[in-house]
Amino acid sequence: MILPSQASFSPSNGRLSGEQVNRAVRRLKDLRGLFADEAAFLAMDPEQIVYEVHAHDACGPVEGGLFFGVSTLFPGKVGQEYFMTKGHIHERRNRGEYYWGIEGRGALVTMNERREATVAVIEPGSLHYVPGNTAHRIANTGNVPLVVGACWPADAGHDYDAIAERGFPVRIVEENGAPVVRNREDE
Ligand code: F6R
Ligand code: ZN
Repeated sequence: MILPSQASFSPSNGRLSGEQVNRAVRRLKDLRGLFADEAAFLAMDPEQIVYEVHAHDACGPVEGGLFFGVSTLFPGKVGQEYFMTKGHIHERRNRGEYYWGIEGRGALVTMNERREATVAVIEPGSLHYVPGNTAHRIANTGNVPLVVGACWPADAGHDYDAIAERGFPVRIVEENGAPVVRNREDE
């Protein structure tokens, strides 16, 4: 039997605390090959933390369960490209997910199975539904940590390999001091 389980969530900074909160960090070295400017990437500290994910996943990966997570994506760029998460599609393809902005400013990039992309602005209070069969990633376009909440089906799973080869069709880059969406076909 799965018992109700409790943790604490700070509405101001998104921090999750409690016994059943898992913490994962991703460093620059975990994101190799994702950024356009390979020379800029190699010149940076590979141990630098790019983002952390705190997840309350007490129920385990069961059908009908839900996971709750908070991602904190630090500000920074590789060349002109903003720091971003690795990005994935759910292993169980039809599983959707909610994202919402807590702190900072960024972009939610999605890609459907026809490789069509959408880009939405994430800001405190913005709410985003990512449908099933849709890859997703976030980028931090601001100067402070981007904190984003998420809730997804516990049995969704994360498939990184399916999108690793061709990646997303767009990049979020800085041009003249402001974020713009660049089509990778134009590279
Ligand atoms: C869960 C989800 C988020 C991301 C997190 C890190 O389904 O979408 O919690 O897992 O933002 O991103 P990835 O997993 O792409 O490294
Ligand atoms: Zn997801």
